[in-house]
Amino acid sequence: MAASRAPGEREENETEKGLRVSDKGYLNTAVMRSTITFIDGDAGAYLLLYGALPSADQLTQFQNEVMHHGTVHADAEHFCRSFRYDAHPMAILTSAFAYLGSYYSEANPSLQGQNIYTRGDKASLALMDKQIYRLLGKATTLAAMAYRVRQGRDFVTPPTNLSYTGSFLYQMDHLGEENYVPNPVLEKALDTLFLLHADHELNASSTTVLQTGSSLVDPYSAIAAGCASLYGPLHGGANEAVIRMLISIGKPDNVPAFLEDVKQRRKVLSGFGHRVYKTSDPRSFIVRKTADEVFKITGKDELLETAMALHAAAMKDEYFIKRKLAPNVDFCGLIYRAMGFPLDFFPVLFAVPRVVGWLAHWRQMMLQEGGVKIWRPRQIYVGEGKRDYVPLSQRT
Ligand code: SDX
Repeated sequence: MAASRAPGEREENETEKGLRVSDKGYLNTAVMRSTITFIDGDAGAYLLLYGALPSADQLTQFQNEVMHHGTVHADAEHFCRSFRYDAHPMAILTSAFAYLGSYYSEANPSLQGQNIYTRGDKASLALMDKQIYRLLGKATTLAAMAYRVRQGRDFVTPPTNLSYTGSFLYQMDHLGEENYVPNPVLEKALDTLFLLHADHELNASSTTVLQTGSSLVDPYSAIAAGCASLYGPLHGGANEAVIRMLISIGKPDNVPAFLEDVKQRRKVLSGFGHRVYKTSDPRSFIVRKTADEVFKITGKDELLETAMALHAAAMKDEYFIKRKLAPNVDFCGLIYRAMGFPLDFFPVLFAVPRVVGWLAHWRQMMLQEGGVKIWRPRQIYVGEGKRDYVPLSQRT
């Protein structure tokens, strides 16, 4: 977990609550399950950002700061309103984060000086925290706006008297009824899924945020870059791709033919495989437990049978066993679908919670010893050797 530790410094093999951290740096499966049950998303977000679980006062102050920054300026609303009704919500969200960067010029190192975040003094820490609160508070508002642009509906002022996920659900589906109270089971399920998606070491989008942020661009632009990376179907777009895959398979009887197409590389098995996890993604166990709780409220999804048949067939097929392909976190799309979110909105439900992980990495980079070093990977040239120049007239 990114925190205010110096890069590379390893805490004891224990975290705050005596949680065993496996030598890969991930909470092991059993601990991950117990962790999720006793901390909620807000405390988890605080832990990622500051490296320790908050006291009651710290948690209340953190929640108030984030919820206080939920509203966006009318200009940002006009900007979001300028998208076509069928624009992909991730395109709207990515652009809206970059828009915020144009708005908060006092947060821009290019305009205010390179060291506004890296001095490490009280003023720069406060400035950094204010951007963190703004981005966390506005992430759900921008997401809800991307949802409502598509429906041609008015935007909703974010309530400050609900939880983070409660306020998000309110903005998504506010139908005008007074004293809206989100369904507590669905609110808790979304909070659990947000916590699961909050951070995951140096995945493609977190690396993108760090690579972009290392040039000392403003944090809004760095987050927009991370959002663009997460949009891809190999990364955050996989939860949408899983449902499209299950819909294309249709009935469980069609699973063997689909898996044959995958083996012939004609199709991809979305929701399976991982660059790091080669046995199972510990998050998938919690996704399944959360799904059981949600389906009790919403009723089961007819795609569930197909998903179970796919899982059973792939897990005993030599082709997938040999390639160490197991389900990853992206079958959570079945839960989002059961909760009524539109299909192309699923990557947004990954991006919103991942903002805190991106910011935790960004904050750690800004505070690292020796200041920020621009990320500049070298490449190994493997192209042609020396060749004589051939004038255009002689090139065929
Ligand atoms: C996330 O990094 C993170 O932490 C990401 C993430 C996070 O929280 O940020 O965990 C979230 O992005 C999860 C992954 C979501 N993506 C998908 O579900 C899309 C489907 N998955 C694959 O595209 C793939 O598994 C990746 C992209 C996730 C990983 O790709 P890799 O690292 O290239 O896979 P690999 O090297 O382990 O592949 C080994 C073999 C290869 O076959 P060969 O060429 O050796 O014959 O397995 C094959 C791959 O082609 N393979 C698949 C496959 N995943 C890998 N074949 C079919 N279907 C798949 N899903």
